[in-house]
Amino acid sequence: MSSKPVILITGASSGIGEATARLFGMEKGYRVVLAARRMERLEALAEEIRSSGGDALPAPTDITQIDQIEKLMETALAEYGQVDVLLNNAGFGRLKWLEQLDPRKDIELQLQVNLSGVIQTTRALLPHMIERKLGHIINMASVAGLTGTPTYTIYAATKFGVRGFTEALRREVKIWGIDVSGIYPGSVSTEFQQHMGAERKTGITTPQFMRLTPQDVAQAVYRVVRRPRRMMILPWYMRFSYLFNLFLPGVVDYTIHQGFTKRERG
Ligand SMILES: NC(=O)c1ccc[n+]([C@@H]2O[C@H](COP(=O)([O-])OP(=O)(O)OC[C@H]3O[C@@H](n4cnc5c(N)ncnc54)[C@H](OP(=O)(O)O)[C@@H]3O)[C@@H](O)[C@H]2O)c1
Repeated sequence: MSSKPVILITGASSGIGEATARLFGMEKGYRVVLAARRMERLEALAEEIRSSGGDALPAPTDITQIDQIEKLMETALAEYGQVDVLLNNAGFGRLKWLEQLDPRKDIELQLQVNLSGVIQTTRALLPHMIERKLGHIINMASVAGLTGTPTYTIYAATKFGVRGFTEALRREVKIWGIDVSGIYPGSVSTEFQQHMGAERKTGITTPQFMRLTPQDVAQAVYRVVRRPRRMMILPWYMRFSYLFNLFLPGVVDYTIHQGFTKRERG
């Protein structure tokens, strides 16, 4: 059996997950397990990785379904015998005012994919990592998991949830030599924007120069794999907005109310 390390990536069919799969599978010598719902995309990506000399396993998975998550782990372990890194990356945002969100496909589904999905996927793989006394779990959160902003209510709830899960789990599994890291990106140019359904009267949006590419985030994942860390905030200067919100929340409340909410809802 190959001695190459294995990374399992959820949400590997587009954006950050796809870019990370390419980086690890084609440049960093990892075998990659590709999980998402759109199998045709996973197969095309696996083919691309294989034709560059890498090793990839497409595994169709809806992470809202526990039986599919169990099957994903069975398939990955049967095929590769190990998973060294789990990247919990699948997720989406529906960014409207709370009362406009559909209770099921916007609210319940976001909670299921972004939060329960991360928890259930981790739980399903954890016995394997505990047995090996080895492993690294990396959760793709967001700056929305550090600061709550209007129209991000549910998305922020899921990402704050991921942050709490990440922190508690890190302290739970360190004893077995398992690392748990969190990545908190700002805006990234991916298909995420096509699904969010945001409507802005003011047209306020993240300026282009502040947007990351999925490749930027993939490189950050690699740095975190090399050196596990509690929190990687991207781009680096977004740390200031986190600290500002932590120490001066009243100023942030006032600024958002005047600069955004009043203009959007007024
Ligand atoms: N883009 C941003 O601005 C940004 C910023 C901060 C954090 N993030 C986070 O980064 C992660 C990746 O997002 P992205 O920007 O790369 O968006 P993306 O291009 O839309 O990718 C989302 C991925 O999640 C998968 N997915 C969605 N529902 C799923 C389900 N039920 N089961 C399995 N897979 C599912 C999708 O695959 P299928 O549709 O094929 O299932 C897709 O591969 C998300 O957790 C997101 O919250 C994004």
